[in-house]
Amino acid sequence: MHCVRNLTEDTYWIGASDRRLALFENIFPIPRGVSYNSYVILDEKTVLLDTVDTAVSKQFFENLAYVLDGRNLDYLVINHMEPDHASMIEEVRLRYPDVTLVTTSKTVQIMKQFFGSADNDHVMLMKEGDVLSAGKHELHFVAAPMVHWPEVTVAYDSCTKALFSADAFGTFGALGGYIFNDEIDFDRDWLDDARRYYTNIVGKYGVQVQNVLKKADGLDIQMICPLHGPVWRNNLGYILDKYQKWSTYEPEEKGVVIAYASMYGNTANAADVLACRLAEAGVKNIRVYDVSNTHVSVLISEIFHYSHLVLAAPTYNSGIYPIMANLLEDMKALNVQNRTVGIMENGTWAATSGKQMRAKLEEMKNMTILDEKVTIKSALWEEPSGLVKRLAEDLC
Ligand code: FEO
Repeated sequence: MHCVRNLTEDTYWIGASDRRLALFENIFPIPRGVSYNSYVILDEKTVLLDTVDTAVSKQFFENLAYVLDGRNLDYLVINHMEPDHASMIEEVRLRYPDVTLVTTSKTVQIMKQFFGSADNDHVMLMKEGDVLSAGKHELHFVAAPMVHWPEVTVAYDSCTKALFSADAFGTFGALGGYIFNDEIDFDRDWLDDARRYYTNIVGKYGVQVQNVLKKADGLDIQMICPLHGPVWRNNLGYILDKYQKWSTYEPEEKGVVIAYASMYGNTANAADVLACRLAEAGVKNIRVYDVSNTHVSVLISEIFHYSHLVLAAPTYNSGIYPIMANLLEDMKALNVQNRTVGIMENGTWAATSGKQMRAKLEEMKNMTILDEKVTIKSALWEEPSGLVKRLAEDLC
């Protein structure tokens, strides 16, 4: 049975959700699942915008056949060639052999790499500024390189003022009937997943996201149709403001993430002592995480969210405790910057993790590393007064 919803009278959402997949990209836990969005425009010509992941292909083809209702498929626009959206391209071509692929030369190159196909028939190459006319609907193509792959385009329909935004403005989370932002409580139920999706998957490419946001600024956008998660049809300023902050690495709120690694509970105790003293001092938004049982994607998301960060870790094999070292590598890879960071180190005979964590943080841009370092020798026996005072001054 079809599972289709109208965006406008002749534009349709024909996506589907996967609630079985445990790890998106085989890395990111998605306990709330994920949706793969695909769209159809019915005009003088019929247009399909992107396909879906193999996992939801059956629902996708049922939806597509229902919407086409016997019409042929004229165009398949490929805005993004990553397999979670491109897996069904070859199957679409088999089922609708007259379809013309509308995409960029870079996409065709990547398509050959994935599919091994050298079939250039029925391909219409587009570049920035080109327009595909389906009748009254005209799709204007805008290049969005490295958001987050090199071939990405977004397409703006000047008829409905809808922006088909590829992965931009997407989020983890399966859609269940409701597909529009005004049908859900996004801020309460979806924002954390949207932030985790953006920061971990697109976070590295803030400059490129800024470039696209500047181009989008010149368009009268009334609807944003991403490849994952809800469609935005009102209150667009809300999500644009989040993207502005995330892509410029500015915190959304004042607050402190205390991320600790602890082998026997002593560094955990130090983190909790710090949190208690900060709470007593009136600091809001204190978030304490054990890096050993919190997925790194959650930590990255929270670090993007808040203004301050404290890293607390033992020294291990003369280095940084490995899970904390991994977090630091991920922070660097994802271009984390503009944060104020405190350090707590532990070591029974040679506490050097603090010095090494500082060196890693200094490889990142615009990080303010506090001098009020806390050194723990096995267990905390002194108040971390200096660090508490400094953080309280900043945050209260
Ligand atoms: Fe949702 Fe970059 O693929």
